[in-house]
Amino acid sequence: MVKKVLVILGSPRRKGNSAILADQITKGAESTKAKVETIYLQGKSIAPCKACFACQKKDSKGCSIQDDMQKVYPKLIKADALVIASPVYWFTMSAQTKIFLDRCFALPAYQSDPFKGKRIAIAMTYGGEDPFDSGCVNALRTFQDAFGYIGATLVGMVYGSAMDAGKIKLNEKVMQEAIDLGVKLVSE
Ligand SMILES: Cc1cc2nc3c(=O)[nH]c(=O)nc-3n(C[C@H](O)[C@H](O)[C@H](O)COP(=O)(O)O)c2cc1C
Repeated sequence: MVKKVLVILGSPRRKGNSAILADQITKGAESTKAKVETIYLQGKSIAPCKACFACQKKDSKGCSIQDDMQKVYPKLIKADALVIASPVYWFTMSAQTKIFLDRCFALPAYQSDPFKGKRIAIAMTYGGEDPFDSGCVNALRTFQDAFGYIGATLVGMVYGSAMDAGKIKLNEKVMQEAIDLGVKLVSE
C-alpha cells in the first residue's frame, strides 16, 4: 500500500484548473488514508538546470544550485507516488513544471534509481478545444517518455479543457476521473 504522495503544482494559479484536478486526485488518495503533501512551485526559488553536470559526477553530493529545490529533493526521494499538475502553456507543460522536471536530473545523486517503483499521476488543463489542438498531447507524451525512461510507473493521466480558473469544475466527468485516479494511484 502506498503511503506518501507528493503533489507538484506547476501552475501560477493556486486555485486554477490543474490545481483543482490535483485536489481531486488528493481527495481520492486520502480516501485510502494515504498521506499527501502539496508543493506549489510558483514563488519558490527554483532556477533552471545550468548543465554543470556536478550531479552526474562520481561521489556527487547533489545539485550544485543552492535554492528551494534542495528542500524538494528529500521529499521526492521519500514519496511513494507523485502527482504532477500543469496547465498547457504554448502547446506543452508550464515553464515552472519543466524547470522542476529538469532539476530532477540531479535526483540519482541523492539516491540511486530514485524513480524505480514510484507511481505517477498527471493532471493537465488547457484552454483549447481538445487535447490535440491545445498541445496537451505534447506534454502528455513528454511525461510518458520521461517517466518510462527513468523506470517510474505512470498510473494515469487526467486532462480537460477549461480557460478561466475554476471552469474545470463544470466538467463532472474529468472531476470524477481525477478522484478515481487518486484512489488508483495509492491502491495497487
Ligand atoms: C501563457 C499561457 C499560455 C497558454 N498556452 C495555451 C496553449 O498553448 N494551448 C491551450 O489550449 N491553452 C493555453 N493556455 C490556456 C491554459 O492552458 C488554460 O487556461 C488552463 O486551464 C490553465 O490552467 P491553470 O488554471 O491550472 O493555470 C495558455 C495560458 C497562458 C497563461
